Amino acid sequence: MSHRRRVAVLISGRGSNLGALLAAAADPAYPAMIALVISNRADAGGLALAGAAGVPALVVESRGRPRATFEAEMAAHLAAHAIALVVLAGFMRVLTPGFVAAWEGRMVNIHPSLLPSFPGLDTHARALAAGVALHGCTVHLVSAGVDEGPILAQAAVPVLADDTEATLAARVLAEEHRLFPACLGWLAAGRVRVEGGRARVDAPRPRGALANPLPGPLPGLSALSTNPAQGCDEGDKDG
Ligand code: GRF
Repeated sequence: MSHRRRVAVLISGRGSNLGALLAAAADPAYPAMIALVISNRADAGGLALAGAAGVPALVVESRGRPRATFEAEMAAHLAAHAIALVVLAGFMRVLTPGFVAAWEGRMVNIHPSLLPSFPGLDTHARALAAGVALHGCTVHLVSAGVDEGPILAQAAVPVLADDTEATLAARVLAEEHRLFPACLGWLAAGRVRVEGGRARVDAPRPRGALANPLPGPLPGLSALSTNPAQGCDEGDKDG
């Protein structure tokens, strides 16, 4: 029996974060294995990534179906595949409080902003419009509110004077691909506990870095990656 936790990744689109998780899990020492991918869209690009990695990939269509039916079908697949942890990686469907409660402490989401700033959609455009100097991404345990829940870790990037939505999104996405595998690894290894609504991560910190939870410093920004310390409705969720 493998000691690795069996993980399902839920997607709706491109799947670049799924790709980063699959790459991390290719290392047998990584404490999680990607055992199932579920998309609520048949045309999600990430399905091909799962197939290429030999991971079972299913489509559970959400459009035009009652929420209870959709979630019951997902729950049945998660049970059939003996899934221990659920990862929302660009999953564009809000989950009901009942589904979220069933996975409390065992479901994580990545959001492309430094929460609690900019929950919801269009985070990069909103960050540019607000004139913030720092932007980034957040990995958090999922609670019933959209883009809410105990924060596991965040990574920050600078907002540059000539940034467009696309350039800023690309800079954040590169950090997402580093942060998400690190956080899933901590969760799978049992290094995350929640106290008083806040997540505590028992993870080694690089000497000299300011509360930087990542295995290596962020390029030029090691002091700006902040401390180690959600779900998804049609069209009202950015993952
Ligand atoms: C990412 O920016 C993620 O933070 C957000 O949705 C996007 C998904 O991208 N929740 P991908 O499908 O992982 O490439």
